[in-house]
Amino acid sequence: MYHSFHICWRRTPLSDLYYLHGRLFYVLFRTYRTVLDAGKQGPPLACDVASDASIADCLKAFSARHDHLDLLVNNAGISTPDHPDDPATGIRREDLLRVLDVNVAGVCAVTQAFLPLLRKNGRVMNVSSLLGSVELSRGATSATSYRCSKASLNMLTTMFANEVADVTFVSMHPGWVQTDMGGSKGRKAPVTVEQSVVGMLDTLEKRTLADSGSFWGFDGTALPY
Ligand SMILES: NC(=O)c1ccc[n+]([C@@H]2O[C@H](COP(=O)([O-])OP(=O)(O)OC[C@H]3O[C@@H](n4cnc5c(N)ncnc54)[C@H](OP(=O)(O)O)[C@@H]3O)[C@@H](O)[C@H]2O)c1
Repeated sequence: MYHSFHICWRRTPLSDLYYLHGRLFYVLFRTYRTVLDAGKQGPPLACDVASDASIADCLKAFSARHDHLDLLVNNAGISTPDHPDDPATGIRREDLLRVLDVNVAGVCAVTQAFLPLLRKNGRVMNVSSLLGSVELSRGATSATSYRCSKASLNMLTTMFANEVADVTFVSMHPGWVQTDMGGSKGRKAPVTVEQSVVGMLDTLEKRTLADSGSFWGFDGTALPY
């Protein structure tokens, strides 16, 4: 059974799905307020990935219960307030820095913190996006800050994989999913949370150490950086 450590997706559908797949897992929420809504899943822990102190507290709480972690899912992510409208010519510096902080520096800090528990043979799934593919972004003008952050996250995945030989790191595109972000500005996303999570887990399970540093879609497609 996996000990999976999941950082902030929407609570109920995801937790039910993880249970369906027989995994014991921990859920991190940004604040203890949201923990109150957590329902039946594994013991919740609070973690604001933009705060080193919060990450340290979270690690301490987790380490008091376990000395090992099989899977870290870095799912927390944000975009700019007007997502997906964010042309390069209109980016506000503070919006860009905020997105980079949560989507890249946050993932880096959480991964560094939990890395000792993931060795050996643990897995890290960084929830990225198709929008982070430079190759697939040719001609695009939307979501610029977000695209920059996910492209950077993909590089981070590769760099961790280059350096840490006994842990499998992958970037994963969850699809265009029916969440707050996916439905912003009244857009209708085609992929349900269930389809996305099941697809990501299936795709992840087929990955070995040889795939470390690679980028995948929830439908099992290998994606270009
Ligand atoms: N939805 C899509 O179509 C889509 C497509 C491609 C990639 N993605 C990626 O999928 C992941 C999940 O996105 P989503 O669609 O579920 O977005 P969402 O509906 O906006 O939810 C974002 C999640 O991230 C958490 N979060 C934000 N800032 C945080 C912080 N500082 N510390 C800890 N947690 C934080 C939020 O927690 P709170 O509840 O506390 O705010 C929330 O659970 C993101 O990495 C996103 O970039 C989504």
